[in-house]
Amino acid sequence: MFTPTGEIVAAARAAGGGVGAFNVITVEHAEAIVAGAEQAGLPVILQISENAVRFHHGRLAPIAAAARCIAETSTVAVGLHLDHVESDELFDLAAAHGFGSAMYDASKSAYDENVARTAAAVRRGHARGLWVESELGEVGGKDGAHAPGVRTDPGEAAAYVAATAVDALAVAVGSSHAMRTRTARLDHDLIARLRTAVPVPLVLHGSSGVPDDELAAAVRGGMIKINIGTALNSAFTAAVRADLDGNAALVDPRRYLASAREAMTTTVAAALRVLGEPVPC
Ligand code: G3H
Ligand code: ZN
Repeated sequence: MFTPTGEIVAAARAAGGGVGAFNVITVEHAEAIVAGAEQAGLPVILQISENAVRFHHGRLAPIAAAARCIAETSTVAVGLHLDHVESDELFDLAAAHGFGSAMYDASKSAYDENVARTAAAVRRGHARGLWVESELGEVGGKDGAHAPGVRTDPGEAAAYVAATAVDALAVAVGSSHAMRTRTARLDHDLIARLRTAVPVPLVLHGSSGVPDDELAAAVRGGMIKINIGTALNSAFTAAVRADLDGNAALVDPRRYLASAREAMTTTVAAALRVLGEPVPC
């Protein structure tokens, strides 16, 4: 069933667990993510990035409607989140297209400009009932560069949350976007300091490059929303490649897309089991 992101994140936080938020590019991604969540019996968040909207010829409506419909017909709680939105115009469309949350991403701006733009977006988002995430301390790698040195300062993060009224904060703690190997090492001491300093749930981006034990430790340390994208695309593409390499006569996309969807389902179920286990008190 469709469930507002804020409710899913609050429940995970109360249970001492994390929740997986997976990037949707195609309808098959959304079907696989929900199937993986149903297999694991755990809630999940579907997220569509501004880049994915650009891929769909700049049109938000078709992929958003498909994801929302898949969320509504699921047997587990499924949130719908608009991710890494840099455009004010796109951010302002989120609620009307069925999203429960959106990430307003002004992380490339200088601190003061990030605060001003984000605070204004939060005011508009809240007026439409959206749960709003934003980012401080740019998580590297969105342009392919590996920038593991970037970090969020806890004191600055606390001031930023107070000044913007965001509902969740993406922080830079050692992960990097678009990694295809799981070799990232997180700064767990920093996660602990951020958790103490920041009153809202923390979000980990670039989680595909983080090994399972590091992810589990991050959740134990207080990271709640765990964003995963590239791992699904690796599973998707490996499955398609294997099908096409194995059968030169194959032309029906349903055959290899079914393999891709199944591979992504397995990836999602495994990741959710790592994240969703409540931490024993
Ligand atoms: O916002 C989405 C993510 O941060 C996903 O990053 O593709 O490196 O897993 P990833
Ligand atoms: Zn991200």
